[in-house]
Order: sequence, then C-alpha cells, then structure tokens
Amino acid sequence: MCGIIGYTGPRQAVPILLDGLRKLEYRGYDSAGVAVHTTRATGTTDSGERPVLDVVRCKGKIAALADQLGQTPLPGHCGVGHTRWATHGRPSELNAHPHRVGRVAVVHNGIIENHAELRSQLVAAGRAFASETDTEVIAHLIERELEREPDLLRAVLRVVPLLHGTWGLAVVHDGEPDAIVAARHSSPLLLALGGPGLGEDSPGPENFVASDVAAVLAYTRHVIDLEDGDVARVTPTSHEIVDASGRAVQRPRRRVDWSPQAAEKQGFRHFMLKEIHEQARAIHQTMLGNGLLADDARMGGLQLELGERSRIIMLACGTSWHAALTGRYLIESLARIPVEVDIASEFRYRDPIVRPGDIALAISQSGETADTLAALKEAGQRGARTLAICNVQGASLSRVAEQTLYTHAGPEISVASTKAFTTQLTLMTMLAIHLGRRTGTLAPERAARLIEGLQSLPLYVDNLLAQSAAIKIIARRYMGARDCLFLGRGLCYPVALEGALKLKEISYIHAEGHASGEMKHGPIALVDEQMPVVVIALRGPGYSKVLSNLEEVRARGGKIIALATMGDQALGDLADDIILVPDIAEELQPILASVPLQLLAYHFADLKGTDVDQPRNLAKSVTVE
Ligand code: M6R
Repeated sequence: MCGIIGYTGPRQAVPILLDGLRKLEYRGYDSAGVAVHTTRATGTTDSGERPVLDVVRCKGKIAALADQLGQTPLPGHCGVGHTRWATHGRPSELNAHPHRVGRVAVVHNGIIENHAELRSQLVAAGRAFASETDTEVIAHLIERELEREPDLLRAVLRVVPLLHGTWGLAVVHDGEPDAIVAARHSSPLLLALGGPGLGEDSPGPENFVASDVAAVLAYTRHVIDLEDGDVARVTPTSHEIVDASGRAVQRPRRRVDWSPQAAEKQGFRHFMLKEIHEQARAIHQTMLGNGLLADDARMGGLQLELGERSRIIMLACGTSWHAALTGRYLIESLARIPVEVDIASEFRYRDPIVRPGDIALAISQSGETADTLAALKEAGQRGARTLAICNVQGASLSRVAEQTLYTHAGPEISVASTKAFTTQLTLMTMLAIHLGRRTGTLAPERAARLIEGLQSLPLYVDNLLAQSAAIKIIARRYMGARDCLFLGRGLCYPVALEGALKLKEISYIHAEGHASGEMKHGPIALVDEQMPVVVIALRGPGYSKVLSNLEEVRARGGKIIALATMGDQALGDLADDIILVPDIAEELQPILASVPLQLLAYHFADLKGTDVDQPRNLAKSVTVE
C-alpha cells in the first residue's frame, strides 16, 4: 500500500526520492509526490538565503511524477516522497501526499480514525482544508503546534497523542531545512544510516527515512526500526529517537542481508518470473536458515511448550492462508497435534475460543498484514502463546509474536506471492517434522526420508522451471477462457486454491479452487467445452479418487490440464494436457505442484498483457483492515 522515503544529505534529493519510490511501487499505489527544501525560488543557500519547502504531486504512476519534476525541477538536499493507495478520498493530485500546510509538509502511511472529529475542530478554529484525506489534519495540527513549540520533533511529539489509528509519518518543516522528523504507530518505519563507512558510494554524511528497506538498499544496509510511539529526527550528521514520553532512547541497529540487486529484475521480464525462478535457492535458504542438518529439522532454537491439550491455531490471509491449510494436514498427520486454521480477518471478530496451552501461529510474507497482526494480538490477549512465520526481518509481526521463524526467501516484490508460498510450505514441513519428533509420532526413518526429500527439492524445482516453455504453450491454448477450475485432494487441495488465486489475481480470469471430492456437489455445473479444469493428480493415497473426478469432467466435455507424477502413463488418455512433476514423498508434493501452477498463471497473464507485477486493485501488503 502506501510508501515513504525521506533523504537528507549532500546529494540532490529528488533523484533519490524518485528511485526510492520506484522501489516501493510494488506495494501498490495510485498517486505520488515529493516535498523538497528547495533553493529553486530563492537562489542557493550559499547566498545566505533559506531554502523554501516545495511540493510536486500527481495522480498516477511515478513516471508521471518524474515528468512533472522534469518540468518543475526541485533542487535541494532534503525532502520526503510518498506513494499513496487511496483510502480517504479518491486518487487525485489534491489528495496525493505530501500535504503541505503553511511551512510544514507531511507524508503518512496508515489511517487516522478520528480525522473527522479533528477536522471539525480545526475548521471551527478557522482552518481551511484542501484535500479529502485523513492525513491533512496531521499537517494542520503540527503547523498549529509549531506556533507554540518551534522544535519540529517536540511539536510532532505533542501532536501524536491526539491521533487515533495507525501512522508512519515523515514530516519536514522549513524552520529545519536539513531535518526529517519521523513517527511510528502500527505502521512500519525505519531510519537508514548512510555516510562514509556505512553507505554505498556515499559522498558524505547522509541519512534516510523509509517505510520499507527496499527503498534504501541501493544506498545503505544499516537500519534502525522505529518502535510504536517513537518519534525520531534525522539530519545528515545525526539521528535521535524519543519514545512516546519524550525520553531519549536507543533502538537496535541492524545490517540488512538483502543485496540491492535482490530488489531489481536482473534481466527477467517481470519480478514475478524472477521470483518464480529464485525458488530453488529460496527453499535452500529456508532450510539453511532454520538449521536443517543432514538428518534433522531443529528449527533454530524454537521453544514451544507442548502438552496433552496443546492445539495450534493458524492465522493468515490469502496465499499465506493456503500455506496454513497445508500446514494443518502436515502437522496433524506427522505430529498428531490438532490444528485449526482461520482467516485472520474472521478470527478476530468471531469471539474465538482460545484455551490454555493453545499456540497461535501467524503466517505472513510481509509481516505487516493488518488482519494477521490483529488476529495474533487477539489470540495472545486471550491467552495463547504466539509464534510467527514471516519473511521480512524486523516486520511488525515479529514484535507481536513471542517467537518468529523466518523463511529467508529474500525480498518478494511482485504482488503475486510465489517464492514466499513455497518457502512457507518448506518451513511448515520442517515444523511438522520437528513437532512429530517431539511428540514421538514420527518414526526416525520416516523423518530421515522426509529430510532427504526436502534436500532434493531445489533440484526438482529447477527441473520444473525447465518446463516453462511447454507450460506457456498450454497457456496460449486456453487464453480465451473466461473461467477456470482447479481441483486437488488432501495436501494438494490448498495448492488448488492457490493455483486459482494466482490465476485470477494476475490474469483477471475467473478461477475457483475446490477439493476434488466437492466438485460433484456443485462446481461440476460449470463444466462445459469452454472450461479448462486444472487437476492436481499426483500419485498418492487419493490418486484413484482423482482419476474418477477426471472421468466426471471428461464426460461433460471439460478440458483437462493434469499435473501428473513423472512416469504415470494412466493419465495420457484422460487429460488434454499434462505437466509432469517429479516423483516425491506425498508430504512434499504441494511444494513441487505449486511451481507449474505459478508458471501457468504467469504465462496466461503475460500473454494477455496484464500488469503482472502490479495487478489492478491489489497491494503487496495490505496494511489496512
Ligand atoms: O504478506 P502476507 O503474507 O500477510 O499477505 C497476505 C496476502 O495479502 C497475500 O498472500 C495475497 O493474497 C497475495 N497477493 C497472493 O498472491
């Protein structure tokens, strides 16, 4: 959703702000803007004149903002930039951030819930509003506060207690032309420290503010995550942080291990395709990062109290919810621990039963999904122990959970989740093995076989990627389809759901995933000669039943695209198209089966010419409810 970047230092601010905003494009947005302390109107600072705060904003893409900045250059060394995903007020130039009121400009991620009340008070006091946004009230409040408190950090500190809701804020004020003040409450924000010895090719002391590390990776990997309630100020040579009470605090500094190239396409046509191709390595990293040794799945020091009555409640949204559904099959089968899976947005509003001994496990690529965060908090407040599976170090979810396991997949930029899913499945399998060993329900020989299977995954994934051209031919054949069904059984039922989600979100083809056995209870009514049906028909306990389902589709003229185990001859007569998947233990089939379905969705979308990486209406991390 929205994105924030701020820069102060010796370089020209605008190119850095635009570059940072481009790196945040993947989050989804519909307008963008920058505010810079510029010397445009007044000449240079060398002449003794103070810079003036200038704002350029526009509806639409960053390319449009760059064009506008080409026509209206903003020379200057300190500024903030923003990409906005509309919540309050339609996408327009007036509603785009930064919002300037007098000598203050503000960019904001999040939602101010009491904005209407604050706006009425400010209007009653004679203030005029230019936009429909909730954010503009913040700019007015800070501007008003500055009349009494000229120090920007202190002024912001006095304003934030008036706000209800969530915010990541970056504020500039022409009384402090080389400073940016940042504030965080339930919306991620970090300080990034540059300058000689810290930054890449740094020409001198410089610092950054960002809502996402991707925006600053090209300049530095040294970051400080702000905590809720923090207000901070950066200048080129300094940074200071105070907590909600105004007390100076030190927050831990960390070095990000993602390379700047990880956030680039590196020759691939789309980030999605690149991320699909990164999966062998990502899965390997997941295993390595969580201590998968030759015969073990130690889960990097995970400490879970398991008792007779232990139960796991998994909470997630979208693709991560599909990973949770697969996790349920794995943990119940290998560790015999009961597992419930909830859509995070449903859990928190249904008065859920949480019992002593319950373990709430939230799964999220970004670690910033508002519903997942709220659901895990809710579970914790009701007495569950809390655990998270997340891909982004320092994400909000890791602050809510008592323990976090990381997937180590590297940055996922494309809105459609791919490597995050297969690494979540990998980690879920490791967790199931780990728990199965602890409960004693998993025989050592079976555990060893599964671990061996896990280690062979990267090789098999590469084998599947080599089928990309053949899968593209299949996609071309069915490109005209308006609807598509995905069927799977057991462990591969969630993979069918995921295949359908992937196809619909990037190609806009209506797609539904179903448990194969459910088809005859309704979805079969949709099957006709126009309908491609993708069936995950890998060898395993449910195989013969899936064959019957295939017969039912065929009898109604449906076109069958089957995922079949290598060496399976039986499907040849039943399916119109076959994608072969390496033979592997049933528990690991979901990981392999996901890869061709990702490629199928990708090729459909690319052939249709949709915006693959930023599909319409979607945002990468959904930070509002
Ligand atoms: O970052 P999270 O895993 O919490 O995100 C959850 C969903 O928003 C996400 O998986 C979404 O469904 C993706 N667009 C799917 O490709």
